[in-house]
Amino acid sequence: MRMVDLIEKKRDGKELSTEEINFIIQGYTQGEIPDYQVSALAMSIFFQDMNERERANLTMAMVHSGDTIDLSAIEGVKVDKHSTGGVGDTTTLVLAPLVAALDIPVAKMSGRGLGHTGGTIDKLEAIAGFHVEITKDEFVDLVNRSKIAVVGQSGNLTPADKKLYALRDVTATVNSIPLIASSIMSKKIAAGSDAIVLDVKTGAGAFMKTVEDAKELAHAMVSIGNNVGRKTMAVISDMSQPLGLAIGNSLEVKEAIDTLRGEGPKDLEDLCMALGSQMVFLAGKADSLEDAEEKLKEVIRNGKALEKFKEFIANQGGDASVVDHPERLPQAQYLIEVPAKQDGVVAEIVADEIGTAAMLLGAGRATKESEIDLAVGLMLNKKVGDAVQKGDSLVTIHANREDVDQVIEKIYANIRIADHAEAPVLIYGTVTE
Ligand code: URA
Ligand code: CA
Repeated sequence: MRMVDLIEKKRDGKELSTEEINFIIQGYTQGEIPDYQVSALAMSIFFQDMNERERANLTMAMVHSGDTIDLSAIEGVKVDKHSTGGVGDTTTLVLAPLVAALDIPVAKMSGRGLGHTGGTIDKLEAIAGFHVEITKDEFVDLVNRSKIAVVGQSGNLTPADKKLYALRDVTATVNSIPLIASSIMSKKIAAGSDAIVLDVKTGAGAFMKTVEDAKELAHAMVSIGNNVGRKTMAVISDMSQPLGLAIGNSLEVKEAIDTLRGEGPKDLEDLCMALGSQMVFLAGKADSLEDAEEKLKEVIRNGKALEKFKEFIANQGGDASVVDHPERLPQAQYLIEVPAKQDGVVAEIVADEIGTAAMLLGAGRATKESEIDLAVGLMLNKKVGDAVQKGDSLVTIHANREDVDQVIEKIYANIRIADHAEAPVLIYGTVTE
């Protein structure tokens, strides 16, 4: 087989066979096929697309390019949730104990990574003593016993995706549905779950800027999952403004506790219900999505979800008293209000820019070397559609330094007040097959 012939085939809009796709991914991972040929192929895929069979094959070829995690020692249907990324997205912290409270195994592997705030592990480390340095055996044992554990990502998962993603980044081929869908799904499948729930975000803070694109990506990923034997569902949700009110590590842990108590922000709670019910349904613990949602509401009402969160924290060495005393989480030294300059209605809170403002305070990593300050971040006091009067606080800045002029400037530049505005739609749709 010659790579040049395969590039030509895809360039002319023809279908690549399973063997051809395996040849490309193996050769590329092993350094036998050079970047320039794979760039040309990626550009051909960008213009010519891939059919369902090719997408599933590409995904599985990337899964098999490296290690895969074997969760078979954990009893029950392992359901994983993945978000395509947003600002102030506290759903994982809420969903993990919420779903585990219904006896569904949550075997979470998480990374740190770059972003507006830390990843799930960084957020949990805001709890004194909490650690994710546990062995594989401890991890399996905890999930079997308590239904929930989190461990840091290890192993060499999907090296083909890492290489290809980096190449796409510099060849203007990131924005291709078959390439994005196979990239995300390969990582989820290599991580070992039986079923997958996807939160595909749309809007200013998201990868997919329009609802149509987000729907297309959701359908593409759900098809891949189902075609390779992992039951997959998706929710398409708004990320034009940040989710919930908190953006920051400690602040989001507090927000998750509030939500598990049934006192969280409405949008975060609604999205957790939509994603959570798909998880419960796919785990086989409910007959319908409606039935699943009822069960989730029940464990919030009867306190089991909150108890599960405490158990989870204690199991991994953390101080579970923070659940009843969130003031024991790291607190910032300065609270600075950002008052509205005029009367009106909040019309826009540009998600990614507000996320960057939180990162400037130290809530997230700009580079791999940056240190996170777990205490700092932003609390939104208003959301899109809320009326404001001049002088009302729009945002409370939680900072560990006094000079936050640059942050204030960014907040003003990215919260627009108008005469009329309505709250955006939160959930644009669900994809169940
Ligand atoms: N996120 C991924 O993991 N892969 C892509 O291709 C795009 C976004
Ligand atoms: Ca939030």
